[in-house]
Amino acid sequence: MLFRKLIAVTFTAFAVLSSFAADAPEKISVEPERILVAYYSWSESGNTKYAAEQIRKASGGELLEIKPKNAYPKDYNACLAQAQKEIRDGVRVELANEPVDFKKYDVIFIGSPNWFGTIAPPAASFLASADLAGKTVIPFFTYGSGGMQNCERDAKKLAEKAKAVLPAKAFRGASVREADKEIADWVKSMVTGYKKEEASGFYGFELKSWDGKDVKTSDFKGKVVLVVNTATRCGFTPQYERLEKLYKEYHDKGFELIDIPCNQFGGQAPGSDEEINTFCTSRYSTTFPRMTKCDVNGDRQIPLYKFLKAETNKADIRWNFTKFLVGRDGKVVKRFESGESLDELEKLIKSQLEQK
Ligand SMILES: Cc1cc2nc3c(=O)[nH]c(=O)nc-3n(C[C@H](O)[C@H](O)[C@H](O)COP(=O)(O)O)c2cc1C
Repeated sequence: MLFRKLIAVTFTAFAVLSSFAADAPEKISVEPERILVAYYSWSESGNTKYAAEQIRKASGGELLEIKPKNAYPKDYNACLAQAQKEIRDGVRVELANEPVDFKKYDVIFIGSPNWFGTIAPPAASFLASADLAGKTVIPFFTYGSGGMQNCERDAKKLAEKAKAVLPAKAFRGASVREADKEIADWVKSMVTGYKKEEASGFYGFELKSWDGKDVKTSDFKGKVVLVVNTATRCGFTPQYERLEKLYKEYHDKGFELIDIPCNQFGGQAPGSDEEINTFCTSRYSTTFPRMTKCDVNGDRQIPLYKFLKAETNKADIRWNFTKFLVGRDGKVVKRFESGESLDELEKLIKSQLEQK
């Protein structure tokens, strides 16, 4: 009886842990040029402007300063009085900005100082007039001492036409200049892209290993690389055995393998990163590098997969164990569908390794 109870408890704990892993917020995969960082800033110290610049730096997006047609008085008390009246009366202030071509963007960061516990009227006007259909909006604020107050709630209301409004972040104005790392980490926890200037074909991508280490595709320069989206509960899962054999046989000669677990096909990679790694290393004794679980199709696909597909037949990944072979020069040599011959794959790996 006790034993049964123990099993039930263990199973429940496992289920809860697995569901946590599945619910972890996933990053938006977006090219930097499709990110807009719009902000309004009033004070001399430009706290919100500073936060916006750091967000731009971390995301690679485009910066836009929101400018009211009638600038607020420079005098603090006069500004307070005007702002208070406008907020109380729900005034939509006119903006001096050129119309924004929203088709160019998928993600819009919107920044404002906290004014009387809410988003400042110029930033509110910007949100209210923006064409946000299909966009992800990410609000951020700076404040004096009040924290976020109603800023997030009110920004959310104004952005109700957006596809999604992600949780807002607020920074204390007086210490925003010490928050560079916090801002960069926050941005990188939500959006992932590759910086344009760094993008050089296959070698322009950043990945995360299953245990959280940074991996760059540029680490594999000059090698023959096989990228495989894998799953632990698939009819093709036994391919792990052959993949490990290939890795053992050719690694010394310049062959690399990047294992990218993916749960998009039949939900056949349900475990956490650690569970997947334990499964592969214990069941198939794999020794090749394994990344964190990723999407390879759709909104949240990692940029590497956009590239691999664009370089081959442009089709979405059809199933687990699709393979891309990349030559020593970074060119994608061939895409293999899940069930295609592993003997053919091996032949091609061998011939690619012979090319200098
Ligand atoms: C008109 C006005 C109203 C403000 N109201 C608040 C407030 O309600 N709560 C708060 O914490 N800070 C408030 N502040 C302080 C600003 O939010 C803070 O200094 C902010 O970092 C300024 O950003 P900026 O430098 O980009 O203008 C207010 C400032 C002004 C000018």
